[in-house]
Order: sequence, then structure tokens, then C-alpha cells
Amino acid sequence: MRWWDIEPVLELERVLFPEDAWSAGMFWSELAETRHPGATRHYTVAEDGTGRIAGYAGLMAVGGEGDVQTIAVAREHWGTGLGSRLLTELVREAGRRGCADLLLEVRVDNPRAQRLYERFGFEPVGVRRNYYQPAGVDALVMRLADPARAPLPEATDDMRTRTEGAQQ
Ligand SMILES: CC(C)(COP(=O)(O)OP(=O)(O)OC[C@H]1O[C@@H](n2cnc3c(N)ncnc32)[C@H](O)[C@@H]1OP(=O)(O)O)[C@@H](O)C(=O)NCCC(=O)NCCS
Repeated sequence: MRWWDIEPVLELERVLFPEDAWSAGMFWSELAETRHPGATRHYTVAEDGTGRIAGYAGLMAVGGEGDVQTIAVAREHWGTGLGSRLLTELVREAGRRGCADLLLEVRVDNPRAQRLYERFGFEPVGVRRNYYQPAGVDALVMRLADPARAPLPEATDDMRTRTEGAQQ
């Protein structure tokens, strides 16, 4: 993901996270941590055949611990394996960066995302009460141990992911 992706990403963000969409400033400050020595973030976008952004995901890796900052797929691409491809990239990147654990928070009322994480071997490790504001929805905290060695589920390969600095 590069700065010129922020506007189209924000359009998806507002639809996919209507209650707690990130602002442009949040994406700008995340991307500022992707392109210098010691950068702690890794952000990617997936494009469909026409170059439209179909999904995006971001990782933070600090002190040997990884966090899935965000992951989202445009609704018309749900169920095509794109969420799995994006998560695969984050798990691999966490492994490359030597993270011992990969953590994430997910709304307790989001079973679709929880199933995605369970397929990758994430396990529930706790609950953060009232984590998502203003509604006060709880977050389930999930953890994948040793992402470098985690077996990854199969996914189809019909969508291209574009990571800053690398074509995949
Ligand atoms: C959560 C989210 C990222 C999942 O994305 P997705 O692209 O639908 O995920 P996948 O296609 O990989 O998996 C979804 C389903 O499709 C199935 N599937 C269909 N074809 C598939 C394929 N070729 N490869 C892998 N899975 C496939 C999966 O088995 C899975 O089934 P299940 O839900 O019954 O377990 C997406 O729903 C989303 O963006 N939601 C809104 C934002 C959000 O909630 N983000 C998470 C915040 S914590």
C-alpha cells in the first residue's frame, strides 16, 4: 500500500467498518512506518483485474511480537479466498521478521473474521471489554504462535497483491 492507495482504501474502510473506520491520518501515519530502516509496519493491497483495490491488510512488528493492524476485503470479493491470501502475506511477513507471536483483536460479533483466523490456527487468548467504541463491543484477542512455522491453508491465486517495494 502506498500513499496514493489511501483514498480508495478509505472508501472501502467506511463501508466495511461503518462504526470504527480509520481516518486518512491513521493510514498516513501507518504508512510512514513502512519505508525506512527499522520500519515496524508492512501494508499490502490486492487488486482485481482492472486495477481496483479489492482488499488490504497491515502488520505491526515490534519487539518480536506481531499484530494484525487491519484486514479487509471488498464485499463483492468475499468468499473467494482473498482474505486468506492477505492473511497469508501477513503471517509470512511476521515470520520473516522473527516474530514469536502474531496477535490480533476481532469483534466478538464478527464470526466470519474469527473463522478466517481459526483456519490459520489463531487461538483465543482473552477478551478486551468495551474495546470498540462508541458501541462498547468487546474484542476477542487471538494469537498464532511462531508464525514462521505455522502451516498455512491453501488459497486460490487469482488476485494480485501489491506490497510497497515488491511485486508479488
Ligand atoms: C473477514 C474478511 C476479511 C474475510 O474475507 P474473505 O475474502 O471473505 O475471506 P476468505 O474468502 O478467505 O474466506 C471466507 C470463506 O470463503 C471460503 N472460501 C471460498 N473460496 C475460497 C478459496 N478459494 N480459498 C479460501 N477460502 C475460500 C472460506 O472457506 C471461508 O468460508 P467460511 O467463512 O465458511 O469459513 C471479510 O469478510 C471482511 O473484509 N470483512 C469486513 C472487515 C472485517 O471484519 N475485517 C476483520 C476485522 S478483525
